[in-house]
Amino acid sequence: MNSSVLKKVLLFGLCGGLVLAVGILLGHFAIKKTASSQPKWVEEAFRDVDESFIETFISEVDAAQIEANLRELTKVPHMATSPGDEATVQYVLKRWKDSETGLDDAWREEYKVFLSFPDKTNPNKVTVVNPSNNILFTVREKEEAYYDDQRDPEVVQPYAAYSPAGHAKGKLVYANYGSMDDYKHLNNTMNLQGTIAIVKYGTVGRSTKALNAAQFGIAGILVYTDPLDINDGKMSDKTETYPHSWYLPPTGVERGAYNIKFGDLLTPYLAAKEDTYRISKDEITDTPPIPTQPIGFADAYALICELAGAEAPEKWQGGFNCTYNIGGPGFKSTSPFANSDVKLDIYNFEELRNSANVMGVIRGSVEPDRYILYGNHRDSWVHGAIDPSSGTAVMLEITRVLGKMVKEGKWRPRRSIIFGSWGAEEFGLIGSAEYTEEYFTKLSERAVAYINVDIAVFANATLRASASPAAQNVIFTATKQVKIPASDTVSVYDNWMKYYNRSSPTHGIIPNVRYLTGAGSDYAAFMHYLGITSMDISYTYDSSKTNARIYPAYHTAYDTFDYASKYIDPGFTGHQTVARTAGTVLLRLADSLLLPFKCSDYAESLELYLDESLKRYKTQLENKKISMAPLENAVKSFREAASRLEGVIQQSDFANETPFKIRRINDQLMLLDRAFLNPLAFPDKYGFRHVIWASRSSGVPTFPGLADAFEQADSTGLQDDWNQVHKHLSIVAQAINGAAQTLNDVI
Ligand SMILES: *[C@@H]1O[C@H](CO)[C@@H](O)[C@H](O)[C@H]1NC(C)=O
Ligand SMILES: *[C@@H]1O[C@H](CO)[C@@H](O)[C@H](O)[C@H]1NC(C)=O
Ligand SMILES: *[C@@H]1O[C@H](CO)[C@@H](O)[C@H](O)[C@H]1NC(C)=O
Ligand SMILES: *[C@@H]1O[C@H](CO)[C@@H](O)[C@H](O)[C@H]1NC(C)=O
Ligand SMILES: [Zn+2]
Repeated sequence: MNSSVLKKVLLFGLCGGLVLAVGILLGHFAIKKTASSQPKWVEEAFRDVDESFIETFISEVDAAQIEANLRELTKVPHMATSPGDEATVQYVLKRWKDSETGLDDAWREEYKVFLSFPDKTNPNKVTVVNPSNNILFTVREKEEAYYDDQRDPEVVQPYAAYSPAGHAKGKLVYANYGSMDDYKHLNNTMNLQGTIAIVKYGTVGRSTKALNAAQFGIAGILVYTDPLDINDGKMSDKTETYPHSWYLPPTGVERGAYNIKFGDLLTPYLAAKEDTYRISKDEITDTPPIPTQPIGFADAYALICELAGAEAPEKWQGGFNCTYNIGGPGFKSTSPFANSDVKLDIYNFEELRNSANVMGVIRGSVEPDRYILYGNHRDSWVHGAIDPSSGTAVMLEITRVLGKMVKEGKWRPRRSIIFGSWGAEEFGLIGSAEYTEEYFTKLSERAVAYINVDIAVFANATLRASASPAAQNVIFTATKQVKIPASDTVSVYDNWMKYYNRSSPTHGIIPNVRYLTGAGSDYAAFMHYLGITSMDISYTYDSSKTNARIYPAYHTAYDTFDYASKYIDPGFTGHQTVARTAGTVLLRLADSLLLPFKCSDYAESLELYLDESLKRYKTQLENKKISMAPLENAVKSFREAASRLEGVIQQSDFANETPFKIRRINDQLMLLDRAFLNPLAFPDKYGFRHVIWASRSSGVPTFPGLADAFEQADSTGLQDDWNQVHKHLSIVAQAINGAAQTLNDVI
């Protein structure tokens, strides 16, 4: 069903385009001759965004509807491929097929994907055992229940997805965040062979903690969230943590996927269909090589505060009211755990399961073959009220308001809008990545933008946005148009500026749109793999009021409707504001005659990256006889090309020129991010092909290939590594020059 519907969209697009092209030729002459009797399609072809329609949209977005959506979506736990997940598939389909408020069409698309689960009949165990094999202490298997939500038998035991099954036993050490430097620090003074490390969430990725540990011969790891990093130090569930506040209770555990690559692990770069070629399990390289288990901080407290050995460095100390020692390895001789080992018995198993994306479409009237994509994942770890259901509740409200307008015949977008409710994101952005693999060619040729709203509200203080610089402009226009909940006059833009701003050489003080460099949600495959201009939008907290690294109930059994409605967004006005903002961005992208992308904003970002590079690298590179001039010149050409194109746009009166012109300029804007792709630039970074926004291991805010190569060369001093720096300098200069040329006039 799915493919036939897509074919229909496709055919409609091609034929519509041909009819349009022929019509344009005829029409152009007709306009010149008899403006009064112009064909009917002319007005439609030049139709621009309707401001009053956007105002109507904004006023129709209803907080109570979002609350009702969230209540429905969070009734039961809905981990990927579970019965609860299937219930949400059915619910989204029902909503999108509704005859009064649904879309033109909706369908499901399945992939057969490689997932990892704990064994219900044989739960993972973590114990402290003494030399005569007596169990002195057992880590909780489940989080404490405060309400029925936590008692649901479908609440999955906390586990590290893709951790191998196995048994590991050894003396405990404390290894901070599990970065390479952290383990090296321990390895300087002790033999880590056969030990068990306890590490904190944060700083490096989940799987990286285990991959690093294995290099030192560590036999297994425990991962927990320190109260200093998540709870502003608060620990007591009698008075301080949920259900009394938004803070994480002592037994709460962050679940998560322990892998690095995005997409299905067995079908790299291929859509995971029934008969698709699969690599063997042994060829997977980015999952933990050793047994790994996450635990709550109450249990971490019981273990860490008993450790022997030297005092851990000051920076490693956390929120517990004891000194964090590094471990003897093992426990203090005065501890009840003296001479004892920590033992992990992990029974996780892996399985191929069918996971569904739900797709919905509103067909465009003038340019149906141009797509604005909007998506979020549907699967959660437990009830997932915030992650991801807040985003899905928002998406369903946007589709309700727009669907109603379409069904009533009041509106149809200029371009097609495709909604995606992705499956199995929590296991590594799988549904969205498989989708971009399956529809690689069509999306590369026709997708204008991707909007991602996953966690819609981390908190209710201010907007937060990450985006390709091309999209900064449309995000600003939308946020100036939408007001914050607490006021009829203060715009989302002005409020956002108070919390997160930067000084722009062109615009002065503006809200800070963050770079979309990571792979934290489903935008990754669109931005990094396909080079589609993407953005990620949410509401978040006032960072001067909390140091929480994320909202505290993230990936735990406490991320429930009760938690969301009491402590994250009472009244659902944050959700409403995100729906209005993201919906307005969507409408402007779908309906504007001229795509609201700004290449001069892209030029500014490239210049900022260049300044950073020159400041950090130029002297050293000159000493190595490597010139940065080609990069400087490339950025200069890009700026010139951007200014020229914006000049052409400014001088154009599109409605009185051939429609080929607006279509041509829109294609230049649509393909701008695509122009920075180089599939061979990062052979070691799976799925990252965008030369400017690829992930950076160095953390330096500049061109990622260059920054990482420089860091490597600077630390080894090897000529081969300096050659790599030269290579990446050429790659990025060429990408920027290439992009500049696509902005130039036709020849
Ligand atoms: C750990 O320390 C040992 C002994 O000093 C050393 O031989 C080994 O290379 C170190 N391991 C790593 C991964 O650095
Ligand atoms: C440390 O915290 C624990 C757990 O919150 C508490 O039971 C204990 O009394 C505290 N100890 C001290 C010395 O403050
Ligand atoms: C910019 O942000 C800071 C906080 O980071 C705030 O103190 C300042 O007032 C903001 N500036 C404007 C113009 O809003
Ligand atoms: C945000 O939520 C808090 C409760 O968590 C509430 O006190 C506050 O009024 C809300 N702010 C807004 C702007 O709605
Ligand atoms: Zn999410």
